[in-house]
Amino acid sequence: MEYKIALIPGDGIGPEIVSEAKKVLDKVCEKYHHTFTYSEVLLGGASIDVHGVPLTDEAIATAKASDAVLMGSIGGDAKTSPWYKLEPSKRPEAGLLAIRKALNLFANLRPAYLYKELEEACPIKKEVIGENGFDMIIVRELTGGLYFGERKTIEENGVKKAIDTLSYNENEIRRIAIKAFDIAMKRRKKVTSVDKANVLDSSRLWRKVVEEVAKDYPEVTLEHMLVDNCAMQLVHDPAQFDVILTENMFGDILSDEASMVTGSIGMLSSASLNETKFGLYEPSHGSAPDIAGQNKANPIATILSAAMLLRYSLNLDEEADAVEAAVQKVLTDGYRTGDIMSEGCKKVGTKEMGDLIAAAV
Ligand code: NAD
Ligand code: IPM
Ligand code: MN
Repeated sequence: MEYKIALIPGDGIGPEIVSEAKKVLDKVCEKYHHTFTYSEVLLGGASIDVHGVPLTDEAIATAKASDAVLMGSIGGDAKTSPWYKLEPSKRPEAGLLAIRKALNLFANLRPAYLYKELEEACPIKKEVIGENGFDMIIVRELTGGLYFGERKTIEENGVKKAIDTLSYNENEIRRIAIKAFDIAMKRRKKVTSVDKANVLDSSRLWRKVVEEVAKDYPEVTLEHMLVDNCAMQLVHDPAQFDVILTENMFGDILSDEASMVTGSIGMLSSASLNETKFGLYEPSHGSAPDIAGQNKANPIATILSAAMLLRYSLNLDEEADAVEAAVQKVLTDGYRTGDIMSEGCKKVGTKEMGDLIAAAV
């Protein structure tokens, strides 16, 4: 079959990890006789350098004309990069938020899974994780909340004041809740909805709507958890979670925390989906300016994101399984990038890891 994939290398380690994921996709094409046509799209700093803005209409059009988008990461070092001298709405991150909104990617899925082979890289004791291991998914609302509320900085009586607003309507909550329950039905049938209902109105509405949606899923156990407790529970007893359903900002923070239970932020893939088969696939981590250009970045999060792309947007389950099995094999064979390195393993760089996984497909 023929498919169109838009590639967004982005900034920092972005181009390095995307090129490894592409290597793996090329191998999938060869083995399963598909043709992927790639078009490169500029986003973030890479777009600012060429067009003066972090996202162009042309970039959105190219993404929309594709079956799916594979992205690296965007952004730079806020202290040293000239991009951060621009006003906030022209900075790299604004481009990422704008493309999420333009493509209506309200559902951000971030699976967090601890491979047996990475137990040594996980900073939490084996006894705490327990027999059944750590295998969960964060379902994060991605186009609402604080990220998209009105924001401004004003001056009142000579005192500067910055305002960010957090709002959700019932429909926004309902559609992401439905996603989470649908996913839970295919897993261990447990949803933990995370909010701050002891303080926020938006969280109280969140709880009410989630309760309503839960009525359509009698087999799924629903529990509510306050976000501060959830942050603690992820370290205290991470294996209790199956599906975490939460709003945009909480999901951002909790997913970085959950990533460490998998051994490294370099392992956490993600899919951002709308109501159709279309999606944007990117690792959960950032552009890691501290290790950019050094062949040190772990490409596995991006490669696993490419597997999600095969599964969700192209319906290529067997191919997705093959990529995931290839990652498993390379870890079993003892190869590690620096972030997941432990004693007795073989340390490799970004490119070597990509080569090994592609060869194992
Ligand atoms: P980051 O995720 O880029 O890096 C945090 C730490 O994790 C760094 O020490 C980095 O070296 C390490 N790390 C990240 N990915 C890694 C990988 N694949 N392999 C090995 N180590 C890895 O977060 P940050 O430093 O807070 O942000 C840097 C830039 O990235 C900022 O401009 C931020 O806005 C942007 N960012 C972009 C995205 C995205 O594109 N989706 C996500 C998060 C942050
Ligand atoms: C992520 C990132 C983004 C977010 C930033 C770069 C805007 O941290 O994808 O997790 O907060 O959503
Ligand atoms: Mn984040």
